[in-house]
Amino acid sequence: MDTIDILKKRRSVRVFQNKEIPKNILEEIIDVARFSPTARNEQPWEFIVVTGAETLKKLSELGDNAKFISGAKACVAVFCSDTKYYLEDGCSATVNILNAAIALGIGSCWVAGDRKPYCDEVKKLLGASQELKLVSLIALGYPLDEKSFKLADKRALQEVLHCEKF
Ligand SMILES: Cc1cc2nc3c(=O)[nH]c(=O)nc-3n(C[C@H](O)[C@H](O)[C@H](O)COP(=O)(O)O)c2cc1C
Repeated sequence: MDTIDILKKRRSVRVFQNKEIPKNILEEIIDVARFSPTARNEQPWEFIVVTGAETLKKLSELGDNAKFISGAKACVAVFCSDTKYYLEDGCSATVNILNAAIALGIGSCWVAGDRKPYCDEVKKLLGASQELKLVSLIALGYPLDEKSFKLADKRALQEVLHCEKF
């Protein structure tokens, strides 16, 4: 698949195979995140990769929208220092992680982090400094099957593309 096909294929995956993700693949995904653009090239991020079943379960209990993390084989917590553009920078890295994952055959789903009531709990659970901002949690795993890519409707190009003026 070429890069454009990969970017268009990415969809949130919330159902995973019971198959470990090799450590070198997880490292490659974080290595790609490291190349994401950041304001003033501050690179304010820290990435915590969780693979332990017990911690994945605890993360899945954070809220109704995170339950599927217990079935994931890894979860990346994206944190940033409290810089002016921490949210943009953390989201930039998050998108690179999602796209690197699909390029490597791994499904992913972004779980909201910034300003969520569970931010402090996540920091405590993962031993992260309270000064850091939680931007996202990303569930990772091999998709159970093609149906795991629930094809979310996307607005049509003609509807969203405006040439020269709105
Ligand atoms: C900022 C943000 C927060 C999200 N939080 C959650 C979440 O907490 N739980 C979840 O299941 N999906 C979450 N998602 C995934 C979206 O539901 C998903 O991207 C959207 O429905 C479009 O589907 P697609 O990713 O398959 O294109 C989040 C996505 C973004 C960008």
